[in-house]
Amino acid sequence: MTDFVRLVEVGPRDGLQNESSIIATADKIALIDRLSQTGLQSIEATSFVSPRWVPQLADAAEVYAGIQRRDGVSYPVLVPNQQGYQRAREVGVTEIAVFTAASEAFNRKNINAGIEESLQRFEPVLAQAASDGVKVRGYVSTVLGCPYQGQVPVADVVRVASRLHAMGCYEISLGDTIGVGTPHHASQMLRAVAQEVPMTALAVHFHDTYGQALANILACLEDGVRVVDAAVAGTGGCPYAKGASGNVASEDVVYLLHGMGMATGVDLQALAATGRWLAALLGRQTGSKVGKALAPA
Ligand code: HMG
Ligand code: MG
Repeated sequence: MTDFVRLVEVGPRDGLQNESSIIATADKIALIDRLSQTGLQSIEATSFVSPRWVPQLADAAEVYAGIQRRDGVSYPVLVPNQQGYQRAREVGVTEIAVFTAASEAFNRKNINAGIEESLQRFEPVLAQAASDGVKVRGYVSTVLGCPYQGQVPVADVVRVASRLHAMGCYEISLGDTIGVGTPHHASQMLRAVAQEVPMTALAVHFHDTYGQALANILACLEDGVRVVDAAVAGTGGCPYAKGASGNVASEDVVYLLHGMGMATGVDLQALAATGRWLAALLGRQTGSKVGKALAPA
């Protein structure tokens, strides 16, 4: 496979949202600025959600206003409703991500709304975004399993992904929120969604709870997906998904892709160094095997 894969670095958002001790705003800004130097094209910067629900990201506006935005890099932020959209626009956000799930039970825990209600909440956000020239990404969570409902029918994933795409999301990220998926299941789900939404408008988002994320990514690459979400140092997890652990580490994904002859535009050494820097800041070892392997002796 010789091809380009766009990485969506979700470390500053998904990676940090679940951290229990509050990280200084300046450190969040430093993380994003370091990531901006690695060749990444998409860096999810923060979330304009309710600070009561995710206290760690209460400083979203300060973080976004403080980063050095580099030309050619997009900095999407999570937005759950019109209030979040307004807050994001006040600091000049030009790309957002709305998020819902394929499981009703998880969606209620995560955003206090059913799936249909959440889609209706997004309608005015998407309409406003279209008139403001703001790009919108859409997330579907629990695509391979739900911590509350258990199995999630693939038809539900297809339905929600198609709705988000039809509403104007340029890209749909399919999230294995609790990392329970395995390659054949991931591939079957992706192929089913690709019957309704073009593969070029799909991304995959794997958490690595059961150590299956890289295998799942490989299966999805073979099916044709070319956008992969990952978090530097393998940080991450959703506070409203019991059992959710870290995202697949960006360094490990880049190593896999480069080893397969695929291009990412990312400087692996610089990314791995950033991952080790972040891990030191969080007071633990990097969750990236590649990051550890590349550490200076
Ligand atoms: P709610 O309590 O139903 O909201 O929460 P509400 O509209 O009734 O408002 C309650 C209070 O929140 C009010 O304040 C609002 O002003 C305030 P009060 O009057 O009580 O002082 N509020 C806000 N404040 C700031 N910014 C806002 C905002 N909205 C309301 N945008 C809500 C509903 C959606 C807001 C809440 O449930 C929420 O913020 N949830 C976010 C949960 C979250 O961030 N989860 C993690 C991200 S999703 C994820 O990680 C999965 C993903 O990675 C993919 C995967 O892995 O599958 C994307
Ligand atoms: Mg996630």
